Amino acid sequence: MPARIPIAGPWITDKEIRYVTEAVADGWYGNASKYQTEFEQAFAVATGRRHAISLPSCTSGLHLALLALGIGPGDEVVVPDITWIATSAPISYVGATPVFADFDAASWCITADSIEAVLTPRTKAVIVVDLYGNMPDFDPILDLCRDRKVAVIEDAAEAAGATYKGRPAGSFGDFSAFSFHGSKTLTTGEGGILLLDDEAAYTQCLILRDHGRTPGDPMLWIRGE
Ligand SMILES: Cc1ncc(COP(=O)(O)O)c(C=O)c1O
Repeated sequence: MPARIPIAGPWITDKEIRYVTEAVADGWYGNASKYQTEFEQAFAVATGRRHAISLPSCTSGLHLALLALGIGPGDEVVVPDITWIATSAPISYVGATPVFADFDAASWCITADSIEAVLTPRTKAVIVVDLYGNMPDFDPILDLCRDRKVAVIEDAAEAAGATYKGRPAGSFGDFSAFSFHGSKTLTTGEGGILLLDDEAAYTQCLILRDHGRTPGDPMLWIRGE
């Protein structure tokens, strides 16, 4: 039988249980967004980003990033040839073509060289995965993508708490997304978050998240407001 390498899961202490209990008692009606908003703000500070958008999953974060970049049929997006399928699936949702790049044997992440080997004039973005919390060698990847005018989406689904040269996972992509599925180091049961700095893309992603309503539109008059 091959040796098993366990992965790290979430660490739930009394503090998390107390906090969830508080939210269950109090996070309703006029407070419906209270905990998400606090979480978004704390996550943006922790990763040094301007904006954080909480979502039902990391997959929806990657999907929103591709939509905000205007990626669609005829475009190519580079992804690692080892990852979870959710890195690649949203490329198909928008009608673009995934192109698979080889991974480095030590980090299990893609490299500037393996990305460059598959770039074409149709490449619009690269989704770089911080696989199992291992960090890719980001400096040359970011240099390459800047030179070739290719957007970087960081799939940090598995990497909450990881760092590269002292910088946190989630700070590297034009868009970066995390997963809070129960198998991850930080969990909300199910969930995800998208991080970004660009104002126009932020507004566009909020509108798409909210079924076309513009931010600040009145929603419902909620009992108690
Ligand atoms: C590398 C990677 N990308 C994306 C995802 C998708 O996360 P979610 O289940 O929150 O959509 C996962 C989750 O397993 C993952 O490991």
